[in-house]
Amino acid sequence: MPAPIAFAPLALAVLALGSAWAVGQVLGLDAASRAGYWLGVAGGTALLALFAYPLRKRLRSLRTLGATRHWFVFHMLMGVLGPWLILVHCNFRVGSLNAAIALASMLVVAASGVVGRYLYRHVHQGLDGRHAELAELRRRLHATHERLATSLALAPQVRDRLFAFEAAALATPAAGPVRLLRDSRRAARTARREVHQLIESALRDAPATFDARRRKEIRANWQRHAEHHVEQTLRVVQLRAWERLFAGWHVLHLPFVYVMVACAVVHVIAVHAY
Ligand code: HEM
Repeated sequence: MPAPIAFAPLALAVLALGSAWAVGQVLGLDAASRAGYWLGVAGGTALLALFAYPLRKRLRSLRTLGATRHWFVFHMLMGVLGPWLILVHCNFRVGSLNAAIALASMLVVAASGVVGRYLYRHVHQGLDGRHAELAELRRRLHATHERLATSLALAPQVRDRLFAFEAAALATPAAGPVRLLRDSRRAARTARREVHQLIESALRDAPATFDARRRKEIRANWQRHAEHHVEQTLRVVQLRAWERLFAGWHVLHLPFVYVMVACAVVHVIAVHAY
């Protein structure tokens, strides 16, 4: 996974927290003020609205309400907007234990949601809940073999190194998901480095009639095919690991949602009662 994508969730969290803090400072709001109160109502409404997605996913009767992926995007938007509005509403201050627990559990759920989105994209194709299938990934990996055989006809050593990487990666004994992800990435890094060296060596042995431009094209073509093969191999090897991490995430995510909802209800009742 390219580093910018891996760090995107962190960047989003920092941006959301930083901007909510800055807006809170500029407006100097108090949760009890009129504007503060209505920001709280707006945040609470956004949080309530995001439950439309799990409901849409589960209730057959809501199928007419549009594709799941739109509701999922709406869920994520409200999942960021709701906590953002609540942070501006309370200006990073809490007046009671119940409000503190409500705020903390909301932040944990929102942060966990961002992590969940990161895991989700490894297990699904697109946003409509379609699971990536191992058989389909294996088929795609297999399809790279024919392409490698033709495109790397002049560099059999590169092709052999790629096949050796694939065979070793697929034979990896079942390990914990984190270890499997780490080990397969390491093996891919080594394979990429060696493939790069083998490509250079094959180009040195290429017919002298190949001019510099032709060599550049061939290098780019070989590297593209090699990278595609390494990526497809990693997807096959890592799918199970991502699935297990995503399943574990689901189990952790929900209890915090329940705590958040319970505290938010108590908080709203307390605010209107006193
Ligand atoms: C306080 C804010 C949030 C709350 C209360 C919340 C709540 C929930 C709930 C109840 C589910 C359904 C779990 C299930 O279907 O079993 C869920 C799933 C999910 N949420 Fe959130 N969420 C929040 C914020 C976010 C954010 C900010 C993101 C990402 C940017 C996000 C991404 C996800 C993902 C990826 C799933 C799994 C989807 C699936 O399996 O279909 N959530 N969330």
